[in-house]
Amino acid sequence: MNTAGHPMLKTHGVHKSFTLHLQGGTTMPVLENVELTVNSGECVVLSGPSGAGKSTLMRSLYGNYRVGEGSILIRHQDSWVDLATADPRSILAVRRDTLGYVSQFLRVVPRVPTIEIVAEALTLRGADHAEAVTRARTLLLRLNLPERLHNLPPATFSGGEQQRVNLARGFIGGHPILLLDEPTASLDAINRDAVVGLVAEAKAAGTAILGIVHDLPTRDAIADRLFKLYPAQMAAA
Ligand SMILES: Nc1ncnc2c1ncn2[C@@H]1O[C@H](COP(=O)(O)OP(=O)(O)OP(=O)(O)O)[C@@H](O)[C@H]1O
Ligand SMILES: [Mg+2]
Repeated sequence: MNTAGHPMLKTHGVHKSFTLHLQGGTTMPVLENVELTVNSGECVVLSGPSGAGKSTLMRSLYGNYRVGEGSILIRHQDSWVDLATADPRSILAVRRDTLGYVSQFLRVVPRVPTIEIVAEALTLRGADHAEAVTRARTLLLRLNLPERLHNLPPATFSGGEQQRVNLARGFIGGHPILLLDEPTASLDAINRDAVVGLVAEAKAAGTAILGIVHDLPTRDAIADRLFKLYPAQMAAA
């Protein structure tokens, strides 16, 4: 199944600035005229110095931040949805069926067992519960999370264990577009390799992937190209 090559995510003229209320309402531009396309079957990695706006762009692409100008077009069920102007209900539909996101830190409802947290990402998309649990178990084992942890809530897990739960939850849904925010930051080499394998499989299945990855070996292993962001100019209020 090779569906590589058609655009899944496109931004045009994206601008975003923050208003600093603690500094007399000064406006700080962060994103200026961002033109980014991510195609099916490829992995694009955001690069640029600290403070350049990588996380801000990622949050904007997921609809967590409203951008000041421009469009964020997501290929959703054979049509384009502009997340810059979409209503909250459309944003939720896009997230459920099209746009997956692995955040840097796991945030979950307390006391829910790990296996259910991961399986839920699939049942939300209509899968049968038993099948979702089976797939969750397989994915967690592939990410070297021992079975004795699967029935415990992840609240007391180590940083790397929590990150692997987050990755399993992000990958299980099989979304056509996947955003990865530093998915390997807390992982050792063996687990980084497991993530590289998951990314390669997702790409082969046609997933469009956009990531922030700081460690160079992982970046080189998954990136088809880099998209560079430059720090924007500070403007006076
Ligand atoms: N909610 C916010 N309010 C005000 N300023 C913000 C906010 N979020 C980010 N910024 C500022 O926007 C700029 C870009 O931040 P961002 O976190 O996007 O950078 P980054 O490229 O992800 O950096 P890093 O590599 O260090 O993670 C920074 O100068 C930051 O201080
Ligand atoms: Mg960042």
